[in-house]
Formats: sequence, C-alpha cells, structure tokens
Amino acid sequence: MTEEKQFNLILLGPPGAGKGTQAGLLVNAYDLLHVSTGDMLRSAIKEGSATGLKAQEYMSKGELVPDSIVTQLVVDRMGKPDASGGVILDGFPRTKPQAEALDNSLKENGRTIDVVLYVNASLDVIIQRLTGRRVCPECGMNYHITNIPPRKEGVCDTCNVDLFQREDDEPETVKNRLVVYEKSTKDLIGYYREKGLLEEVNGDISAEELFEEVDSLFRGEGLVK
Ligand code: AP5
Repeated sequence: MTEEKQFNLILLGPPGAGKGTQAGLLVNAYDLLHVSTGDMLRSAIKEGSATGLKAQEYMSKGELVPDSIVTQLVVDRMGKPDASGGVILDGFPRTKPQAEALDNSLKENGRTIDVVLYVNASLDVIIQRLTGRRVCPECGMNYHITNIPPRKEGVCDTCNVDLFQREDDEPETVKNRLVVYEKSTKDLIGYYREKGLLEEVNGDISAEELFEEVDSLFRGEGLVK
C-alpha cells in the first residue's frame, strides 16, 4: 500500500465482540498493520519486561493498564516503518485521555483516522465467546471451542501446539472487564460519533458474515478499493 492510500481504522467494542477476529481478516484483506494493545501487553508479560510486570497487575484483574503505558506503546509502534501504509488499532483507545493522546500524536505526524468501527454484541454472546475462547501460545490465533474450533481439539491448526485459556477469560474477571468497559470505554462511542467517524455493526453474526458486511461498507464509502 502506498503512502497516499494510507487507511487508519479503530476497532471499538466490548470484550469478546470479535474485534481481534475481524482485525485478523481486515489486515489480510487490506494489507494493514494490526496494532493490538492486548497482544502487545501479553507479549511484554511473556518477555518479563518491566512494562509486562506492571501490566500483569491490572490485566489479571480485568482492570485497564495505566494510560501512560499503553499510549507510549501505541505511539512507538505507529512510528515504525511498517505502520506507514495504515493501521488497525484494536483495543486502543479505551479511555478519553488515550483518545486525546492519539489525536495529538496523529496530528503531529500528519495522519488521520478514517473510520471507527464499533463492533457491538449482546451480553449472552459475549460471555459465550469469552468463556469458550482458546488461544495459540505460538501464533496468537484465537479459536473457540464451538464457534471456531481447531481441526484437532485443543491444538493449533498451524503450530500444532496446545491451546490455552486466557487468565482474564475466567468468569469473574470477564464480569469485571465488562464493568470496566461500561465505565471507561463506552464514552468513546459518543466521542467518535461527534467527530462523524463512527460506524456501528452487529457483532452477533458469524465472523465471515460480519467481515463481508464491513468490507462492503468500506468499499461503499470508498475507504478501500
Ligand atoms: P484485549 O486483549 O484488547 O481484550 P478485549 O478488548 O477485552 O477484547 P478481547 O480480545 O477479549 O475480545 P475481542 O473483541 O478481540 O474478541 P475476539 O475476536 O478475540 O485486552 C486485554 C486486557 O489488556 C484488558 O482487559 C486491559 O487490562 C489491557 N488493555 C488492552 N488494551 C488496553 C488499553 N488501550 N488501555 C488499558 N488497558 C488495556 O473473539 C472472542 C472469541 O469469540 C474468540 O474465541 C473468537 O474465536 C470468537 N469469535 C469472534 N468473532 C466471532 C463471531 N463473529 N462468531 C462466533 N465466534 C466469534
């Protein structure tokens, strides 16, 4: 993708709505960089870095990691050469200060957000998805025990290693993540609606159906070719 065709997209929505799954489909379709703060923080935890140790205190309880840590991670990542063609921000911003810091950073770098895709989903769907999610420790692929099962039960199709359940997908932590979403992140829907950037889609449908809907929406608006 050339510089003039840069496309920057934010994925907003409750935990388990399917943001990461759509991001995976969209990055392949449009050749964008997937910037997932959840994935970056989990990598930092795996590496045992100072950021990771700090982040784990919050993530294990389903709380948000402090704005300063997350914002710095994203700003640094967006400054790398492979982000120049456009990015999908998945799970960021999640608070008003994060959104404002992003606005400032984009402005300084002459970039803009083209669209904020709000993936909404109903509560029973969210809980079913989060409690059934299984993740590959090697490639990070998200499966689901019934919705998106691997070919061999409990094993990644690509890496052939055992899948695991995320610590924050335990039912009690899921409950807190939903409370935190309502309290801290939901306000961003209004923030981006006022800017005329918000597009809402229903995440309750299958991942393939949702991708097709989003793809036609973006093509219809001339955001992608
Ligand atoms: P993060 O990793 O971003 O978690 P999240 O936003 O809670 O989102 P999830 O990854 O749980 O859900 P998703 O919407 O991506 O759904 P997915 O596609 O995986 O953040 C984790 C933690 O990190 C936070 O709690 C916080 O502590 C910290 N953090 C991250 N960003 C931060 C920030 N900006 N500020 C502060 N702290 C931050 O799908 C879920 C399951 O459903 C999967 O099993 C999938 O296979 C299945 N599925 C997906 N779509 C469908 C579909 N359409 N039909 C059927 N099944 C589906």
